Amino acid sequence: MNGAIDRVVITGASSGIGLDLARRFLAEGSRVVVNARDADKLERARVELGGGDRLVAVAGDVSDPDTGPRLAQAAKRHFGGADVLVNNAGIFGAKPFLESTAADLDRFLATNLRGTFLVTRAVAPLLVEAKGGAIVNVGTVLVEQPIGSIPCAAAMCSKGGVHAFTRSLAVELAPHRVRVSCVAPGIVRTPLIGDAADSLAKIHPLGRVGEVSEISDAVLYLARAAFVTGVVLDVDGGYAHGR
Ligand SMILES: NC(=O)c1ccc[n+]([C@@H]2O[C@H](COP(=O)([O-])OP(=O)(O)OC[C@H]3O[C@@H](n4cnc5c(N)ncnc54)[C@H](OP(=O)(O)O)[C@@H]3O)[C@@H](O)[C@H]2O)c1
Repeated sequence: MNGAIDRVVITGASSGIGLDLARRFLAEGSRVVVNARDADKLERARVELGGGDRLVAVAGDVSDPDTGPRLAQAAKRHFGGADVLVNNAGIFGAKPFLESTAADLDRFLATNLRGTFLVTRAVAPLLVEAKGGAIVNVGTVLVEQPIGSIPCAAAMCSKGGVHAFTRSLAVELAPHRVRVSCVAPGIVRTPLIGDAADSLAKIHPLGRVGEVSEISDAVLYLARAAFVTGVVLDVDGGYAHGR
């Protein structure tokens, strides 16, 4: 898949990285199914993205077992299938472990890990049917390189699972020519991080936070890179390599 990418499914596409990704894929001529939980916010994103018959919005919580099949059905019905899945929907929250609860853990696991697993389970058969394609998950650089000032053990249980899932599934789906990779962002300026973003600039050796377009660049690369699978690509201003 070195050239144009035809049919794409993106979760968490009403905001931040996912919204930018939808814009980028559409600008390249792709046909895109976008998803997010909040239907009104997703509809505003659909309008902002220009609507049109190359864009289909399907609202739903990725942790709901019905959402993945609904995304797959929309891709099949409107576009005849799917070539790329981006599991971008995700939540984050810093909280000291000694204050964390079972509910905190369950919340992160539901969206970040169960959501990624269930949507992939539903959409991957379309990629197999297309005889090749790519799944790009979104993890975080904090999985491999924790930092004391951002305590987030509960969130990392889920994102660590996403990194492990990526590697395992890459090997399993390789015979079907379906590649599975993961982008691990550093701190990126999005609504998820809010006004705190720039105060965290100095944890990156490059001395600034990332922009959504820089994460989209990496996702687009991994979606196309025909001899790359199973990688977790840090897009983090050098954060993973020390300070
Ligand atoms: N920003 C960073 O610094 C950073 C760093 C490392 C990793 N990441 C990862 O990058 C991804 C995108 O984050 P972002 O910063 O762009 O966040 P964001 O601006 O908050 O956007 C998150 C998107 O995910 C959707 N979403 C959240 N929970 C969902 C669920 N259960 N089901 C369906 N959609 C859901 C949101 O829609 P609703 O509002 O409708 O729920 C929204 O569209 C996440 O996986 C995040 O963990 C971000």
